[in-house]
Parts: sequence; C-alpha cells; structure tokens
Amino acid sequence: MDILELIKERKSIRCFKPDIPAREVVLECLEAASWAPNPTSQQPWQFIVLTGDTLKKVCDVIQKNYAAAAAQKAQGETEQPKNDITEILEKRKKDNFAEMISFLQENNADMQAIGEGNFNFHRAPVAVLFGVWPCKDQNYLKSIVAAMQNFMLMATARGMGTCWANAVSICQDAIKKCLNLHGELILVDGVAIGYPVADEPVNKIPRHRLAVEEVTIWHN
Ligand SMILES: Cc1cc2nc3c(=O)[nH]c(=O)nc-3n(C[C@H](O)[C@H](O)[C@H](O)COP(=O)(O)O)c2cc1C
Repeated sequence: MDILELIKERKSIRCFKPDIPAREVVLECLEAASWAPNPTSQQPWQFIVLTGDTLKKVCDVIQKNYAAAAAQKAQGETEQPKNDITEILEKRKKDNFAEMISFLQENNADMQAIGEGNFNFHRAPVAVLFGVWPCKDQNYLKSIVAAMQNFMLMATARGMGTCWANAVSICQDAIKKCLNLHGELILVDGVAIGYPVADEPVNKIPRHRLAVEEVTIWHN
C-alpha cells in the first residue's frame, strides 16, 4: 500500500473486538516504534504493554484518579492569552466537536460508553504505555511521539486499530505507583490497540484535514 494511503487509513478506533492481538504482532508494532528518529540514537523509551487483569487494574486507577489529577494539572497551567490564532483553533475544535456529536447522535451511538472510553482505553484488549526517561532538553519527549506514530501506522498495516489515550499522562503518578514503575519515568501517553468493530458509528466519525496549502508557508 502507498504510504500516504496507509497514513490516511489510520484513524482513531474507539470500539474494539475482544480478540487479543498476538504478542508477535504487538512486538512488530513496537519494533516499528523503535525505528523512530531519536536523539543521538539513545532510544530513551520504555514501552509497557498491558493486557488482562493488569490492564483492568490500570483502568480502575485512571477512573479513580482522573478528576483530581486533571484538576491539579489545570491549577499548574497558566491561562493562554487569547489572540487571533487561539480563536481560530477554538473554532476548529468547536466545529469538529459539534459534527462528531451530531453524527454519533444521529447514529444512536452509546454516548456514555464513548465518554467512559477515555478512562478505559475504549475497552481495547491491549494498551501500550509510552514512557521516556527524563532529559535536559525536550528531545527525548519529541522522539517518543514519533515512536507512537510509527506504532499506530504499523498497527494499521496489520489490520488493527489504535486510539491515543491522554488520561495516561494525566494519571501517571498513580499508574506508576500501581505498576511499580521507576519514579523518574515520564509516561507521555498510552495507545489502545486491538481489532476494530468496523461498523460501529464511533469508528466511522467523519474526519477532515485542512488543505495543506492553508497551513503551509512557502519561502523560496
Ligand atoms: C495528544 C493527543 C491526545 C489524544 N487523546 C485522546 C483521548 O484521550 N481519547 C480519545 O478518544 N482520543 C484522543 N486523541 C485522538 C484524537 O481525538 C484524534 O486523533 C483526532 O480527533 C483526529 O482523528 P483521527 O485520529 O481519526 O485522525 C488524542 C490525540 C492526540 C494527538
């Protein structure tokens, strides 16, 4: 398959079959992740694969801790000053959200289950946490995001679906405690992975991107 076709085929999957992907296939996706560019080839990542009871335990931890952890994070953040750009971005978010909600409602989707999905990896049979060791600059963090994209593209190529899970970074202190992970490890985020239920409306949310010319400045 052409690489651009594969990139466009990857989409966020939020309803999974219960079938557990084979360990070899998950490892293949992680191998793709490990071939991401990274600072001076230090490969500063730690991948943590969760299935079965451990995955359930981590979902419980997220459910119990999310509200307090999110409130604490919000407290530490400085308010972004409003300008033309923030207004444009806010409008895009609002429009996307409105389209998504009306699509899901028209198709009788289970809105409660979809909302809860943010705290339980959308009930995927496997979740991967992407950890990175701390560093002086931001380069380690940048490389793990490249690794996550490689992982998701490889999963798509193998017929699986993925969804980014932001609750992992928010609840990372509690998750690290639960899994007895090194205190210094930064959990950048998680990715749910499994086989998609193709016909489920939540997996067919309309997707758009701006024309690339709109977000490109070309200097000759
Ligand atoms: C940093 C980041 C955090 C995200 N967190 C979540 C999340 O917590 N739950 C979720 O369902 N999707 C999450 N997503 C997926 C986005 O909602 C999704 O990528 C976006 O709507 C575009 O849709 P697409 O992935 O199908 O192209 C996240 C994506 C990114 C890049």
